[in-house]
Formats: sequence, structure tokens, C-alpha cells
Amino acid sequence: MRVGLDFGTTNSSAAVYCDGQVHLVPLDSDQPVPTVLRSALFIGRDGRASLGRPAIDRYTEGNVGREIVYERIFLGVERMTFADIGTVEQALFADVDANAPGRLFLSLKMALPDRSFTGTDVFGTRWTIEELVALMLRGIHERIAADLGEPVTELVIGRPVHYADPQGDDIAISRMQTAAEVAGLPPVRFMPEPTAAALHYALGADKAAYVLVFDFGGGTLDVTVMHVTPQGEHRVLATDGVPVGGDLLDRRIVMGKLHPHFGAGATLGPRHLPLPAYLLDHLDGWQSIVELHKPQALKVIDEVIITGDRKPELLALRSLVRENYGLPLYEMVERSKRDLSTETEVKMSMDVGAIHFAEPLQRWDFERLIGPDVRAVRDCIERALHAAGVKAEQIDVVVRTGGSSRIPRFVRLLSEMFGAEKLEEVDVFTSVASGLGIAAASGIGA
Ligand SMILES: Nc1ncnc2c1ncn2[C@@H]1O[C@H](COP(=O)(O)OP(=O)(O)OP(=O)(O)O)[C@@H](O)[C@H]1O
Ligand SMILES: [Mg+2]
Repeated sequence: MRVGLDFGTTNSSAAVYCDGQVHLVPLDSDQPVPTVLRSALFIGRDGRASLGRPAIDRYTEGNVGREIVYERIFLGVERMTFADIGTVEQALFADVDANAPGRLFLSLKMALPDRSFTGTDVFGTRWTIEELVALMLRGIHERIAADLGEPVTELVIGRPVHYADPQGDDIAISRMQTAAEVAGLPPVRFMPEPTAAALHYALGADKAAYVLVFDFGGGTLDVTVMHVTPQGEHRVLATDGVPVGGDLLDRRIVMGKLHPHFGAGATLGPRHLPLPAYLLDHLDGWQSIVELHKPQALKVIDEVIITGDRKPELLALRSLVRENYGLPLYEMVERSKRDLSTETEVKMSMDVGAIHFAEPLQRWDFERLIGPDVRAVRDCIERALHAAGVKAEQIDVVVRTGGSSRIPRFVRLLSEMFGAEKLEEVDVFTSVASGLGIAAASGIGA
């Protein structure tokens, strides 16, 4: 059986196409929406891995709210020989979190184009990025094969038009290839995600049309301009994309609105020195909050609490870092952002550890924070139209797909560019997987 797999930054789905029907594979059968698997991986201290929502639950149960305790462990003795002095022996130590139950990985797809991230240490074992992705792919492949009851013979995996810059794209694709091999997958090939969504749309098309797919997910915005006919013919005229997605928008909210609750503006000592900037810079993503776990940074935080003037907020910063509340912070912000798609104002709040705040966020203010991203998105669409040689007026349908395509600011942008009557929301979380399933079954793009 040939299968399509959308390995998403936030969510993954898989689909097969047979007898004119798309079947979405339940990848996380215990969840309310079993066909959408949260792209999360947890590796426990015991080496046991979990995928999907259970991965986040294991991290939350074991790590969140728990103080990190550093222990100095003895690594061994290093011998160095110097010409004048002779051989010198030196004991080597490392500071390790003594009882962290496990490591959580989210948005691994966005680490693929990152040259500086080659892998990480998980309880003394080095995992390359390819091995981490392979672990997820292997788990997903097993679930697909179990659901279908027959072997998978080929996988068509989606790829963003651009993960990052063109060089980053090459690295990302080659890492995905390696990960697929390490996972022991059947032969794989890749297809741009918005092209897959366009194929899914074309299946239901009843007249010839110029279609622009606007696929806005957790990691990237991807655009395809395509001509489709009801006979199933389709021609890709252009694709474009930018690494702007829901994760980035969440970060804009934290960095733009929540800093004051974690000590921004605090001054230190009688000379009123500023708080070291890197502390708040690290709130730019829950993973970078985890990077403040290093004993040196923890020491700096303890010192600023003694000398700083905004004690409750600095204690909140300490709690955020030491007690692992970075993920709950980002999950709360992500929920608030989603609620802002239907409400005009939300209240962001946390009441855990030493963190206590309530901060309103209005839709207009969120739109102000994401102004540069809206411009990057508009430029991307204009580039795609230009490359396709098609004017906005000639586009018959704009397919909105991907979770972030529900954000009212982007719906408005598309309405202004194309006219509200042309917009169509299509299976926000599964259109890419469905299209990849269709491509797999029909050999499209092979
Ligand atoms: N109603 C909503 N309003 C705003 N944002 C939303 C909404 N629903 C989901 N999102 C956002 O959509 C993103 C997830 O969308 P999706 O599942 O399409 O991404 P993905 O396919 O995993 O990512 P990518 O395609 O970029 O790799 C998240 O950032 C989430 O916060
Ligand atoms: Mg996607």
C-alpha cells in the first residue's frame, strides 16, 4: 500500500487513497481527533519513547513543577603530557540534572535546516537530529502498517517549499532522507506540501480553475499556484514559502507582552544596573527557556533576585526556569492565540509556582505584534503570483489550509488581495496528508 505522510511541525497525519476515497489513518487512537498526531517525542530516562499527546503528558507529569537539582558527576581522568612538565592527570566532572525524568522534543521539523543543531545528549547518549526524527518516523510507520493490516510499499512525505534559506532546504531534505533510512522505512519521495493540498482540492473541483493554496502551519507558510480541471489534470505554476508559522507568532506574544511579568525593567543594586539582557532573550521559545537550566545561568538568576528591585517578577523568572514552566507558558499562549481567532480579547494568565499574572490581549494588539510577519506573508504570495505569471484577479479560488490560516488577520489579508468570496477553508489539519495519499496512489510527482 502506498501512503502519504504529512510530517508537520505541530501535527502529523497520514492518508491512503483507494477506490476514489481518501482514508485518514488514526495515528493517535486515544485522542479525540485520532487522525491528527501531535508531533511530539519524549524519551524517558529509561530509554522508553512516547509519541504524540502522551509525550507531552509524560513531560508535564514528570518535569513540570519539579525543581532541577544539579549533581556533579565524575566523568573520568584525563591525562595530558607536556614537554617540560611531564604527564598531568586531571579529573573531569560534569553538572547534570540529577533526576530529570525525560526529554521532550517539539517542532523537530524546524530543527532540520538548522546547521548548528546536529544532535543532543539524552542522559549520556548522543542522539543525532536524524536519529530523533527516525524514532518518530518509525513509530508513525508502525501505526500506519498496523491500521492498514498490510505493509507500506512507498511513502510520499510532504516538505515545505522552503524550510529556511535554500542551503537549509538541502540540509533538511538530506537529513529527512537519512532519518527515513535509519527508521527502516520503505522507499520515500518528497512533495511540496501546498502542492499536495492543491491535489486534494482538485479532487473535488467541478470546473477548470486557477487555485492558490495558502497553507499556513506551525513552522512555515507555503503557497502553490496551480491550474486544475475537473478531469483531474493539474499544472503547478509556482510555489513559494517562508519560515513563518504559528510557533513564531506564539513567540511574538511572549516577547511582546509577557516580559514585564518575568522581570523586564528590573534594576540591580544601588547603581541600578540593568538586568542581563540574555535572561529575557531566552524566553523566545520554551526550548530556549530550558537552556537557562545551566548552573551558571541559574546562579545569575539567584543573584539578581537578591540585588534586583522587582522581586515578585524575578522570582517568577526563577520559577519559570527552575521548575520547568516554559512549556505551560507557551501552551497557554498558543491557546490564547487560537481563542483570538474567534474572540476579540482574551485573558492570558498563569498561577503556578511563583508565577502569578493575568494579562489581557486584544486582537488588534496581537495584529500589531505580528505586523512584520503579515508583510512577509504578503510578499511571499506576491512572489508566487509573479512567478506563476498570474494576476490576483485571475485566481478563482484561494484554498486556506493549515491551523494558522484561521487567524483573522491573514483571512483579511487574503480577502484584500483576492476578494472574500474566493476564499475557501479546506480540511485545515488533514488536506496535505490527503493530497500526499492521492499523489502516492496515483504516482503523481514520481
Ligand atoms: N484556530 C486557530 N487560530 C490560530 N492558530 C491556530 C488555530 N488552530 C491551530 N492554530 C495554529 O496552527 C498551527 C498548527 O497548524 P498545522 O497543524 O497546520 O501545522 P503543521 O502542519 O504541523 O506545521 P507545518 O506545516 O508548518 O510544518 C499551530 O501553530 C497552532 O497554534
Ligand atoms: Mg502543515
